Amino acid sequence: MKDLVGKTAFITGAASGIGLGVATRLAQAGVKVMMCDIERAALDKAVADLKRTNADVEAVVADVSLKPELEAAAQATLARYGEVHIVHNNAGVAGGGVYGAWADAGWSWTIGVNLMAVVWGVEIFGPLIERHGQGGHIVNTASIAGLVSGSGNAYNVTKYGVVALSEGLRVELAPRGIGVSVLCPGFIRTQIIDSVRNLPERFAGALPAAPAPAQSAIATWLGNVRERVASGIDPLYVGELVREGIEQDWPYIFTDNEFEPAIEARFGAIKAGFDRVRGREPPH
Ligand SMILES: NC(=O)c1ccc[n+]([C@@H]2O[C@H](COP(=O)([O-])OP(=O)(O)OC[C@H]3O[C@@H](n4cnc5c(N)ncnc54)[C@H](O)[C@@H]3O)[C@@H](O)[C@H]2O)c1
Repeated sequence: MKDLVGKTAFITGAASGIGLGVATRLAQAGVKVMMCDIERAALDKAVADLKRTNADVEAVVADVSLKPELEAAAQATLARYGEVHIVHNNAGVAGGGVYGAWADAGWSWTIGVNLMAVVWGVEIFGPLIERHGQGGHIVNTASIAGLVSGSGNAYNVTKYGVVALSEGLRVELAPRGIGVSVLCPGFIRTQIIDSVRNLPERFAGALPAAPAPAQSAIATWLGNVRERVASGIDPLYVGELVREGIEQDWPYIFTDNEFEPAIEARFGAIKAGFDRVRGREPPH
């Protein structure tokens, strides 16, 4: 989408972090933005702050892991702005423990917010973009954890799912005038580590009991991730990259090169798997 001025965007998880960074940069580029989030107070503050800069933004509260709430948010977007061109399925939670600390509620919460809400965002908003015939763009937030998995947990599973969904939709939606990008951030300075602040009641039990000894491997790993996020990249910079990715129709939007060697190593391991069977004749 080359010309963003006057277009309308719908962004989930827009009250904080990456979603707020993208909302800010798109609004500054002349895009009208419907900002959606589950956290009402943070959303109201974010929208009020942006309005003070003359941005044309509005708030809609929704738990995106509930399809009817996402549908209602889409209707609110149409009621306010008439049409929608850009959708950023971004809301996400760092849910689901590592092996040995799994809970069904944790898997359901993480899959609901990180994956099903993206599926529904495409299902609900795709036809709304198609119907005005001006084209549009969908950005789905995955993660570097959608391309290389450090541990077998729910978060990584959902992020691989978002990458798969986005790669497939990019091919499917291009003839319909809709570009699709997948955003795969590294460490960004946001509140993701404190995702549990927005744990819906129906997922009570999502959190396993805290690891007892403070020096346990899980606690050490979590502390390390918390530190990396706290000193991570500015979400406003991510917002700039996303704006550029929409304008240039980038398939993958990365934020930095830290994990490029790890992803190359994964490709190398996959290639080695193919090499092992090269030249063998499969029985029919
Ligand atoms: N911060 C990082 O280092 C990092 C790295 C890779 C990917 N990501 C991804 O970026 C996305 C944004 O996260 P962030 O880092 O900005 O964290 P954040 O916690 O600062 O922002 C996430 C937003 O999503 C909202 N949200 C949570 N559950 C919701 C629900 N059920 N319905 C609607 N909104 C909900 C939160 O209220 C919050 O405003 C997530 O998908 C996350 O997985 C973040």
